[in-house]
Amino acid sequence: MLKSWYKEMAVYQVWPRSFCDGDGDGIGDLKGVLSKLDYIKSIGVDAIWFSPLYKSPQKDYGYDIADYKSIQPEYGTLEEFKEVLDGAHKRGLKVIMDLVVNHTSDQHEWFKKSIEEPDSQYHDYYYWRKGKGKRRPNNWMSTFAGPAWEYNEKLDEYYLHLFAIEQPDLNMDNPKVREEVKDIMKFWLDMGVDGFREDVITFISKKEGLPSSPYWFPVATGIEKYMHGPHLDEYLMEFKRDVYDHYDCFTVGEAPMMTTKNALKHITEGENQQLNTMFHFEHMAADCLFYSWFKTSFNLKKLKKVFSRWQNELYGKAWNALYIENHDQPRIINRYGSVEYRVESAKMLATMYICQSGTPFIYQGQEIGMTNPTFESIDEFTDVSTVNNYGVAKSIMGADKALKLANYASRDNARTPVQWSAEKNAGFTTADKPWFKLNDNYKEVNVEAAEKDPDSVLNYYRKLLKFRKENEIVIYGSYKEHFKKSKELYVYEREYEGKKLLVINSFTDKEVQFVAPKGFDLTKGNLVLSNYNYPAVTSNGFKTKPYETRVYLFD
Ligand code: NOJ
Repeated sequence: MLKSWYKEMAVYQVWPRSFCDGDGDGIGDLKGVLSKLDYIKSIGVDAIWFSPLYKSPQKDYGYDIADYKSIQPEYGTLEEFKEVLDGAHKRGLKVIMDLVVNHTSDQHEWFKKSIEEPDSQYHDYYYWRKGKGKRRPNNWMSTFAGPAWEYNEKLDEYYLHLFAIEQPDLNMDNPKVREEVKDIMKFWLDMGVDGFREDVITFISKKEGLPSSPYWFPVATGIEKYMHGPHLDEYLMEFKRDVYDHYDCFTVGEAPMMTTKNALKHITEGENQQLNTMFHFEHMAADCLFYSWFKTSFNLKKLKKVFSRWQNELYGKAWNALYIENHDQPRIINRYGSVEYRVESAKMLATMYICQSGTPFIYQGQEIGMTNPTFESIDEFTDVSTVNNYGVAKSIMGADKALKLANYASRDNARTPVQWSAEKNAGFTTADKPWFKLNDNYKEVNVEAAEKDPDSVLNYYRKLLKFRKENEIVIYGSYKEHFKKSKELYVYEREYEGKKLLVINSFTDKEVQFVAPKGFDLTKGNLVLSNYNYPAVTSNGFKTKPYETRVYLFD
């Protein structure tokens, strides 16, 4: 197992619009981030990943970029970004930027020129195609619902957009586009940033000829033609060879529909490694089919199977990226935990994934146990994919059920302002109103309250991350799952240099009889982390409390 700084770090994700408003306009910004750097550091993380800060019309909240080299004015200036970068570095925090190059905004100069000057080189920066008679060039559907092609009257051509209409896909097959991408990467790396989270990077190569799909879904028809396309290897290799190899930087690729087998083609350590790690999505489907809008009931066995597969198949060869929340996922307590046992289940879920092998990512608000708010009507949502998906759901199940589903599945659930205090607007902004609704529970769930309570979720994250940092077994140890058939308990061990760690997690409020697996004697173990207070064990098992977690270390 090779050691590296990126394997030892933990990362905190900032979704800037809702993090902290420093200038009183109701929108989170860099001034706000600057004022919270000490707080971020205090959690025990080593890096910040910023969701896009670049100039953008905000149709997809920054994932539609109009200028890759400047900062969204609502968020601040490039000078302010440099201050944040410097402030982070001074505190020993790395800074990871979001790199969104599968598509741009339709307000990017390249796209505008591709229309205004169709004979210029910019036309071929995008996928412009003639229709087939009155039909679109193929049957692909956007991953945000609706057709993936938009017609332009002036050119009498369609352009491809796998996401919103305002997010035209870049034609990565064009070597000039790849040069632009490398230029953007170097711009930020030369400024001093420490790496990239690469947005849907595994979508950048589309099957030659853009053939129609034989399948049909209401969203993402055609995904099999680009989710792991023919030239992906080649393009990622080019980025590595021409850019990453010349910097000490970290790269994590976002990879929807990724399997371990395909991931290993890109992240296996050695000469041909193209990215340090990948965000796969398989473990985010334990309560749904593929993604949260196709809801099912929560299935712990499904979750364990996925985690164990990624742990076992990557161990010693490649590195995992561990996460349970981000700006695209509803809050995890509502999905895999329990709102009733908010504190207990938040701590259990944290232990469950952070004690695995990999680099953990923590999404803003996760560390205080934020939960989904209640949306009373569809008009309260602002996310483009939610509005589109709701439209599809409504036509199938009617408005009431569709609203209920949106409350469960929408990524807007993760985008409410961070709750800093019990003060007006949860201390997020001094404006009359924040840009987006607050969760009503902010008087109880907020950073200030969590700071004062030694048993808060926040203080548990601190303990957990400190323990990880001080015990290499959590970072580099091997992994073995126990009681695979249990529908209530997720138990695994880690082993490293003669030490063992036993991680026990209950996913139920019911009492379950736990007996230590063969070879473990709990009375000899050191209980290093737990979410209840109890006397030392006197036997080799116990009855679990609701959403209990315990971690025993055996030296
Ligand atoms: C993945 C991002 O995380 C998501 O927020 C965005 O909408 C899509 N990619 C498109 O960029």
